[in-house]
Amino acid sequence: MTKKKIVFSGIQPTGDLHIGNYLGAIKHWVADQDLCDSIFCVVDLHAITIFQDPRVLRDKIRQTVGLLLACGIDPNKSLLFVQSHVPAHSELAWILNCVTPVGWLERMTQYKDKAAKQESVSTGLLDYPVLQAADILLYQADYVPVGEDQRQHIELTRDISLRFNHLYGETFNLPDGMIPKVGAKIMGFDEPTTKMSKSSAVNQNFHAVGLLDSPDQVWSVLKRATTDSEKEIVFSDDPKKAGVNNLLTVYQAFTGKSRDEIQAHFAGQLYGALKRQVADAVIEALKPIQERYNQYMQDATALDHYMRAAAERAAERSAPTLKTVKERVGFTLLA
Ligand code: TYM
Repeated sequence: MTKKKIVFSGIQPTGDLHIGNYLGAIKHWVADQDLCDSIFCVVDLHAITIFQDPRVLRDKIRQTVGLLLACGIDPNKSLLFVQSHVPAHSELAWILNCVTPVGWLERMTQYKDKAAKQESVSTGLLDYPVLQAADILLYQADYVPVGEDQRQHIELTRDISLRFNHLYGETFNLPDGMIPKVGAKIMGFDEPTTKMSKSSAVNQNFHAVGLLDSPDQVWSVLKRATTDSEKEIVFSDDPKKAGVNNLLTVYQAFTGKSRDEIQAHFAGQLYGALKRQVADAVIEALKPIQERYNQYMQDATALDHYMRAAAERAAERSAPTLKTVKERVGFTLLA
């Protein structure tokens, strides 16, 4: 029997998880659980690179674990844990800091975007991708399923891996990003030339659809979705058609239908009808997730119990790589 490929990915417990997170990442994590040895992480250390209200963060971490389970991450198949519960992530990040040139980090577009919005930029924000590399390399991941916006961070992880291996000898695997063909970059409904994001909404109320939004909330966002002054319902790269293209992409990702089938179906229909049908597809997909979420959140003790056991497993899994790294760099290990 061939060994299953190791998959690692992470998600920040900030803001409300939205359908972009689901279609770009979570959905694929769930789908590949049987085929892969999957490890998923709620990255709270990454979250605090921008100030978070501690009380809100504490709740968000548990809610994110609950929501990922509700989306279909199966604890019997995958390992899902909270990053700060496993100190090896911070330890490896420090060591990798010492082989990563600052210039590599200053070039990261996410850093530049986020830094431009901050009055004062923390060292952690600059260092963010090194911690992400540590997450991935600690488990010797083969694949990293993410949305389009993480492509550059995965490239950097590969560079860090190569550099460490070059300096200290073959230690880390060289992971590949796995970016889906459909849904890798869901755009904001208010401004379809901007990526849907948890925080940087142009119009916070009509930008994104959250995974926990009620049917009324979903419709209130979709009915206001920006389109164009034409009538054609077609997939298109033309920036003018970005709104319609985004609606069709969301429809395609949730229904699994082909582009041809979808275009044939919508031919001759009006934008209002398109929006209603996209909303219905989203509402239908979110319903079972929301039902399961409410069940998970009712039992706080079970969730805590799960998080503790998962942290122990993650610590065990990451220990051999961290030990090798410490040996390679010349630390003295106590027996
Ligand atoms: P985060 O929390 O911003 O997003 C989680 C996942 O959702 C994807 N995503 C999207 N996909 C499609 N359309 C969108 N509009 C959209 N917005 C977000 C992201 O690409 C991501 O896959 N740096 C990571 C977290 C991280 C990580 C890791 C990921 C930390 N360590 C190790 C992979 C491996 C982040 O901020 O994701």
